[in-house]
Amino acid sequence: MELIQVKDSIIADKCDELLTLLILDERKYDANISSQVKIQGWYSTTLEDTNRVTYAMVEENKVVGFVHGYIKDIAGGMVDETVALLDALYVIPRYRGQGIGKLLVERFEKWGSLKGATFIDLSVLNDNKVAFNLYKKKEYIPLKSYLRKKL
Ligand SMILES: CC(C)(COP(=O)(O)OP(=O)(O)OC[C@H]1O[C@@H](n2cnc3c(N)ncnc32)[C@H](O)[C@@H]1OP(=O)(O)O)[C@@H](O)C(=O)NCCC(=O)NCCS
Repeated sequence: MELIQVKDSIIADKCDELLTLLILDERKYDANISSQVKIQGWYSTTLEDTNRVTYAMVEENKVVGFVHGYIKDIAGGMVDETVALLDALYVIPRYRGQGIGKLLVERFEKWGSLKGATFIDLSVLNDNKVAFNLYKKKEYIPLKSYLRKKL
């Protein structure tokens, strides 16, 4: 198994498939996510953007997990320090519990740091305890709550 930076559209397209699975997985915690979701051609459009990065854990040309994130563009000089946003993290079920999720987060943190970020921000659904545990282990702390009311 190898952790690589995604630079070609073949691997990027495989990450789209995993992003689709990630969003479908979030249906467990958010009933408003469509069962019809299908991401196609998204990560390949980000490959040239030096403020975005995707890392994939690859086993014999199969992507078993990935992380994607970017440097947040915060307008108006509102913040003092650069923030990197961890936007998506997914490991396919058969490969979970082996430390891959942690490695992907660590690799993204290293990238953020090289880009000059001093914080990583991310969102996680409240009931996603597995992800919460992972982030807690990596020393992330709750900062803000996202609220919703059903009309
Ligand atoms: C969250 C996810 C990426 C974790 O990937 P993983 O490769 O299994 O994670 P790791 O093996 O690196 O585990 C890291 C930590 O997560 C927690 N964790 C992992 N699996 C867990 C489980 N089944 N139950 C509780 N905690 C768990 C533990 O704290 C673990 O640390 P430890 O092994 O030192 O105890 C994976 O479960 C996944 O893709 N889930 C669906 C998508 C998702 O929730 N993504 C995050 C959205 S914000």
